[in-house]
Amino acid sequence: MPESLMDKIVSLCKRRGFIFQGSEIYGGLANTWDYGPYGVELKNNLKKAWWKSNVQERNDILGMDCAILMHSRVWEASGHVHNFFDLKSDCKNCKKRFKSADLKDPSACPECGGQLTDARPFNLMFKTYQGPVEESGNEVYLRPETAQGMFVNFLNILDSRHPKLPFGLAQIGKSFRNEITPGNFTFRTREFEQMEIEYFVNPQDAPQALEAWIQNRFNWYLALGIKNENLRKRQHGHDELAHYAHACMDVEYNFPFGWAELEGIANRADYDLKQHAQYSAKDLQYFDDTRKEKFYPYIIEPSGGVDRAVLAFLVDAYTEEKVNPSTKLRIDGEQSRTIKEDNRIVLKLNRELAPVKAAVLPLLRNRPEIVELAKNISVDLKKSFAAVYDDTGSIGKLYRRQDEVGTLYCVTVDVQTLEDQQVTVRDRDTMQQERISIDRLKEYFIDKLF
Ligand code: GAP
Repeated sequence: MPESLMDKIVSLCKRRGFIFQGSEIYGGLANTWDYGPYGVELKNNLKKAWWKSNVQERNDILGMDCAILMHSRVWEASGHVHNFFDLKSDCKNCKKRFKSADLKDPSACPECGGQLTDARPFNLMFKTYQGPVEESGNEVYLRPETAQGMFVNFLNILDSRHPKLPFGLAQIGKSFRNEITPGNFTFRTREFEQMEIEYFVNPQDAPQALEAWIQNRFNWYLALGIKNENLRKRQHGHDELAHYAHACMDVEYNFPFGWAELEGIANRADYDLKQHAQYSAKDLQYFDDTRKEKFYPYIIEPSGGVDRAVLAFLVDAYTEEKVNPSTKLRIDGEQSRTIKEDNRIVLKLNRELAPVKAAVLPLLRNRPEIVELAKNISVDLKKSFAAVYDDTGSIGKLYRRQDEVGTLYCVTVDVQTLEDQQVTVRDRDTMQQERISIDRLKEYFIDKLF
């Protein structure tokens, strides 16, 4: 059977050090994933791009980083203790557990045909204990969304920063859900990262703010390189809205396993502030000093998953190309080596997301002057952007590897470099090559990258 696109992505992620199975040497812990050296760079670049466009470049959004563990009353007030359930059914024969919403026949096991139990609610929050004694009263939950940290700090933000409506709070952080059916690689896991904005608005401005955020977030994915045909919006039906939401639009990506949610943009209305005001007995209303009135702002919430976005960008960038140019690099004297470039796998990540911007490669690993010069060039480039030095294979192999991780430029140091102080710069996408003098190299890249 031909390898599926998803299998190819999983295999590339392991082969090149993007994402590994969690606890692999112990047989793996199902549905946990560890980001390797290139994976963490990609993930950090994605988070940086989100932070830049949503916090750094705006006057109306403030950043936060709240604790994962919160007072258990938070989750009573938020409604998660009573409402954050999925229905599950167990097979009486093979003992497998299924999310009821995924079952075509609610009475028969889709795996073995055995009889299923009636659907029973299953709370998705992870519970643990704070302190040395495991008893009720010490129970705490791992947050299932980062949002609540921002709601419970609403008053602190009003008192410390005095923002005027509309304004937002933004946070990136881990969330945890005891999902019944995790799967599809990093798409649905029990531990994941979210990027969330809570945007507080005057209630009558909520519909327009919702529309504006839907468009803003949709365009953000396009601007970072997702192909238009792989992105769409989908309105939530009333039966699928979360317990706090008045309306919600999903931004969906066309994953290899079908269209699925990348981000949800919801109108949470005044649900959260009212609930926390009631449970904490604190006044969480906003005072509008021009109109001299107090009210609960409505909240528009764009909430995206970091891991899902990383997966979508990997899938979208994955390209298999049949190419046939050859590269001539001079080895010694008049002798030159022709590097044939046939088929290649290339990750066409855009320049902001690519984990490595430039890789410096020595053509000959056994020539100390070439190796030393290549290392020095890489150290100098590293001061300005993500660059690597690599001499772990022949030049053809090194090009292949760098293409597979999406490195934008390869810089090759050859014998002629020792004479003319010029290097060969190869562009990942066009595979065109240019000779650039070493003293102009940094400036050349800075022009291209920023
Ligand atoms: N605060 C609103 C909220 O949490 P959500 O639709 O449940 O809304 C928002 O989650 C985003 O978080 C999703 O669009 C998805 O990208 C990500 N997400 C949710 N559950 C996830 C899971 N189990 N694994 C990976 N990402 C998840």
